[in-house]
Amino acid sequence: MLLQLRQRISSYSHQKSWSIKISEQSSKSSLIKTFGLTAASGDICKHSVLVHLKKQAYACENSCRKIKNKFNLQSAKVYILFLFCCKVLVNSVQPPSTFQPESKTDKRIAMTTKRTLCCITVAVLGYLWIKFVKQSPVYEITKSLDGKTVLITGGNTGIGKATAIELARAGARVVIASRNLPRSEEARREIIELTGNDEVRCMYVDLEDLDSVRDFAKEFDETEQYLDYLINNAGVMSVFGKAKSGINRIFAINHLGHFLLTNLLLDKMKKQSTVRPVRIINLTAHSYKVGNVTKETMYNDVTSLGEMFQTASDSKLANVMFNVALDEELKKFDVTTYAVHPGMIDSGQAMGLPLYIRALIRLPVLLFTRTPYYGCQTTLYCALDDDVTKNSGGYFSDCQHEELEPLARDQDAIRFLWNESLKLSGLVTS
Ligand SMILES: NC(=O)c1ccc[n+]([C@@H]2O[C@H](COP(=O)([O-])OP(=O)(O)OC[C@H]3O[C@@H](n4cnc5c(N)ncnc54)[C@H](OP(=O)(O)O)[C@@H]3O)[C@@H](O)[C@H]2O)c1
Repeated sequence: MLLQLRQRISSYSHQKSWSIKISEQSSKSSLIKTFGLTAASGDICKHSVLVHLKKQAYACENSCRKIKNKFNLQSAKVYILFLFCCKVLVNSVQPPSTFQPESKTDKRIAMTTKRTLCCITVAVLGYLWIKFVKQSPVYEITKSLDGKTVLITGGNTGIGKATAIELARAGARVVIASRNLPRSEEARREIIELTGNDEVRCMYVDLEDLDSVRDFAKEFDETEQYLDYLINNAGVMSVFGKAKSGINRIFAINHLGHFLLTNLLLDKMKKQSTVRPVRIINLTAHSYKVGNVTKETMYNDVTSLGEMFQTASDSKLANVMFNVALDEELKKFDVTTYAVHPGMIDSGQAMGLPLYIRALIRLPVLLFTRTPYYGCQTTLYCALDDDVTKNSGGYFSDCQHEELEPLARDQDAIRFLWNESLKLSGLVTS
């Protein structure tokens, strides 16, 4: 990217009209103002402007080297370009406090230069915004999933539906498990229409209701021969109150329902893994890093927005811990597990928020979130890539493995979560 900018700068140096305007018609003071040059004497020409710009680019590159350890390469490059563009923009819009245009032509040239630089900056920032904010790495599916069965909770909308579409497109049999059957039916029709694959099935499950999860698991076990990919995708952020089990609804849906579902299907997966491998993917969120799993965080009554956001992060930490524990549990089998952060995606997560908050956040959401298509890419990567199995139990974001925060490996907290979940879901009695 930086190279491209440098090339662009040097290509300007070969544009005759630009060089004439700058070297022959611009006054020294206008160049000093426009490009922030500090030369006190001597000829200021196009060449010195270019040298100055190049120096800025290299200075930015050097400052990037210092931060490379903190950011990944991609964000470091964005950072350099952002600094560079900001510098150009700031220089180009400095108020002409001392500069007095010598003639109308001078004034026109100065304005044209400023406008050109502003346009370039806006174009570059726009490109960066689309490339790095609105888009993320895309996983290219190269294998056929004919004969494979995928179970996706919450597959009727948002990231789950996008995942279902891509997997159905690759030939998999897809089972969508959600509460809202009419919406699931609609999604099923859409998936068939888009992919031409009619192996799409809708099943009812309410993850908040443990009886419903048991009924679902029983029916699935009896009616589906295989389960090759279990994608625990369903999740909520903006719900209040407590579930029947006594814990708050966010924890019940995001963690406990999936904990019970996975455990009820574990025998089927273990048995099958002797002949065909199984992968379990647990959708989590980056916010797990500020989560906390204790008895209080599971049982607290969520009544305010602050509690809601914190509990959502707590439940996402529980997803990561469950993923780690599950991997330990399944070491002897060809069943691997992955915790996936899908990115910031424009989906239905905010639907439970009051209308005025949704209206307030709409613009930032439009500006800074991606579409569900990008949200499903890391799930696809973990489900299908051959290399990921060596990082089973790990955390993935933007189709890359990331080291887990120490809090997600806290063995006491993991043991507490596992034992409490066993009791709450009725898998053990005590
Ligand atoms: N969107 C983001 O920016 C973001 C960021 C980080 C992590 N995530 C995670 O990504 C996953 C997918 O999120 P999304 O953005 O696609 O959300 P979404 O658009 O709100 O979809 C949520 C899905 O979960 C299902 N669901 C909710 N409650 C359920 C219940 N009690 N039982 C069964 N299914 C239930 C919903 O279906 P029904 O309503 O039909 O039941 C829906 O299909 C979630 O785990 C979320 O935490 C999302």
